[in-house]
Amino acid sequence: MSDYQQFIANVKRKTGIDLALYKEAQMKRRLTSLYEKKGFKNFDEFFRAMNHDQALYHEFLDRMTINVSEFFRNAKRWEVLEKKIIPKLLEKNKRLKVWSAACSTGEEPYTLAIILSKFMPLSQVSVLATDIDDNAMARAKLGIYMERSLQEVPEDVKKKFFVKEGSHYKIIDDIKRTVTFKKHNLLADPFDTGFDLIVCRNVLIYFTEEAKHELYLKFNRALRPGGIFFVGSTEQIFNPTAYGFEVEDTFFYRKM
Ligand SMILES: C[S@@+](CC[C@H](N)C(=O)[O-])C[C@H]1O[C@@H](n2cnc3c(N)ncnc32)[C@H](O)[C@@H]1O
Repeated sequence: MSDYQQFIANVKRKTGIDLALYKEAQMKRRLTSLYEKKGFKNFDEFFRAMNHDQALYHEFLDRMTINVSEFFRNAKRWEVLEKKIIPKLLEKNKRLKVWSAACSTGEEPYTLAIILSKFMPLSQVSVLATDIDDNAMARAKLGIYMERSLQEVPEDVKKKFFVKEGSHYKIIDDIKRTVTFKKHNLLADPFDTGFDLIVCRNVLIYFTEEAKHELYLKFNRALRPGGIFFVGSTEQIFNPTAYGFEVEDTFFYRKM
């Protein structure tokens, strides 16, 4: 067993996280550069140190989880969501069950809540937001962002839903209240069901093909018939029908 394979086995035992389901070259490169920076010679040394050093363990988690996000990331897609997808979903159901899977620091579920608030009173908006990374979700719950996370946010939306505090922007409490954050590992934990809309963007690219196939099937089962699966702008599904989906629009798939 190689040094990296042994590390994968150790991490799985310690944390339940299966690094074997993440693309190897990319993950290995990221983690190698971290342990080298920390002065370790190999994965074995790194893992032993991580066992005693909580801060190092958190750095490892931080390095493997890649938390970059942004409000209205790929703005044109969110426009399609607002103008086409949500109105169509609302024709069937007045209340929508919505999940932002791998929500990172909260920009995505808050974007969803902002858009949904244009269609219904905030008291009816409810978004489930999950991620494997506790630190990212702690930041999400704080709801404080640097200006660069808001690059794509239209001025009127900025005024209505954010409060400027020095050089930062704070999402307003009314929006914050609509989002429920929960820890969830897409590669290991069971999925809830009956969703009208699942948003899972910019995380599937890190997983192996086998892991992705499995996840497409699980997302399909988690949606109600007619429900929509919204993926990232480099993540189109090449044979959606194999997973029970049809194309609704670019990067939007409908459960058949
Ligand atoms: C690049 S961010 C994407 C954030 C957001 N969805 C977006 O598109 O802006 C990737 C997120 O996936 C999360 N992640 C990685 N592996 C995961 C897993 N197995 N289960 C759940 N979340 C995971 C990371 O913690 C990180 O917050």
